[in-house]
Amino acid sequence: MKFFVDTADVEAIAELNDLGMVDGVTTNPSLILKSGRNILEVTREICSIVSGPVSAEVVALKADEMIAEGRKLAAIAPNIAVKVPLTWDGLKTCKTLSSEGFMVNVTLCFSANQALIAAKAGATFISPFVGRLDDINLDGMELIADIRTIYDNYDFSTQILAASIRSANHVTECARIGADVITAPPAVIKGLAGHVLTDKGLDQFMKDWAKTGQKIL
Ligand code: G3P
Repeated sequence: MKFFVDTADVEAIAELNDLGMVDGVTTNPSLILKSGRNILEVTREICSIVSGPVSAEVVALKADEMIAEGRKLAAIAPNIAVKVPLTWDGLKTCKTLSSEGFMVNVTLCFSANQALIAAKAGATFISPFVGRLDDINLDGMELIADIRTIYDNYDFSTQILAASIRSANHVTECARIGADVITAPPAVIKGLAGHVLTDKGLDQFMKDWAKTGQKIL
């Protein structure tokens, strides 16, 4: 399973990238706001660090403007995936840009049917939002499983990019189901290394080591 990091924080991306944890990056207008940076500048900087797909989202709502924005974003670097919302105009944009050879990430997906039509429109990635479905007492992971079944039934090549990943359990469940990619904030990815028994075990080892009076270096 590929790990994309869901942030426009360049330092956080670089730190995880140095550890080999970053197969790609996703951003959205809210994350650009949080970064305080200009979208074109920060996206260019991210693409200079990460060689995998970097999603940059259009903000127009009409297809012709979305297509123009998408072409401008795609011109930043060859590894840009143009991110479009799952609306009819977003699907038109997806079809046009994917036919031109650009990667397209169709975002804000909340149903299996939306994922089905995004695949038919040529999406490279579909982004179902797990956490936001859980927020309204629906089952985000059931959606990931449904999309996996549907895409496998018909051999769609669109990759399932599970988004709105908020916890280590979300990551485990996505891996179990077979999502192609998860995108998560840096803190969630870093949190995967943690375990209470690791901390407890290490604490005991350090206490016992101190009693030996030995040194390795
Ligand atoms: O990639 C989409 C993601 O940023 C949404 O996450 O936690 O805002 O629902 P969240």
